[in-house]
Amino acid sequence: MTTHERQAGLPDHVAIIMDGNGRWAKARGLPRSFGHHQGVGSVRDVVRAAGEVGVRYLTLFAFSSENWRRPEAEINDLFGLLKTFIRRDLAELRSRNVRVRVIGERTTLKPDILALLCEAEDSTSGNTGMTLVIAFNYGARNEITRAAKAVLDDVLSGKLAASSVCEQEIAARLDTHDMPDPDLIIRTSGEERLSNFLLWQAAYAELMFVPEYWPDFGAEQFLAALSRYSARSRRFGGLQPAAAGAET
Ligand code: FPP
Repeated sequence: MTTHERQAGLPDHVAIIMDGNGRWAKARGLPRSFGHHQGVGSVRDVVRAAGEVGVRYLTLFAFSSENWRRPEAEINDLFGLLKTFIRRDLAELRSRNVRVRVIGERTTLKPDILALLCEAEDSTSGNTGMTLVIAFNYGARNEITRAAKAVLDDVLSGKLAASSVCEQEIAARLDTHDMPDPDLIIRTSGEERLSNFLLWQAAYAELMFVPEYWPDFGAEQFLAALSRYSARSRRFGGLQPAAAGAET
């Protein structure tokens, strides 16, 4: 495997809302499940491309806390696809030095899927290449609420002074406590919203909405998005460097 030089202007952390599997299938007169199956191919392509180009964190929104509202058969299909992906692709992820992390609510997951997710995390925890973050049973409001409860527990038990509660203490209790905020959030399928994805972490993320349905989004589209990102100017609430210089 070739690992390319890490380019300047490359985002450290890219997060993706993989949308449009159902519409991709419908446009072809196929059941929605075909779209999800085809979407796994895009997952593989994008994971490989991101790792090769030097992205450090890639977060994929695989199942949201709101996806439980879908028909049971579709939920089972999505869970089945994730299980198959981990069983089949874990060896490749290991060989590519990818570290797997899972974010989302774990307490309501069935033991079999939880065991598989933990195996993916444990068996890759020593890897030093890209971190693939799988957002599974994930909802940002749920995550922030769990973090708020953890802060409250620590205050009540005397581990944390109420006067010490600050942004850092909340961030330290989010599922993403050990990773940088996303620099770039991509959503496929032309929809333009965040749908309860990384709401805290997205504070300064660049948002990119692309027209392709997820099964049509591969390495080429991913690299094009990175190239568009590199042309954007990020100020984090400050001024352009030139303008800041002019004022001092
Ligand atoms: C959105 O399409 C996509 C999902 C809800 C699930 C994405 C899951 C995968 C690509 C497969 C499993 C993931 C991994 C990491 C192996 P949609 O069904 O909402 O499409 P629609 O808006 O066109 O109906």
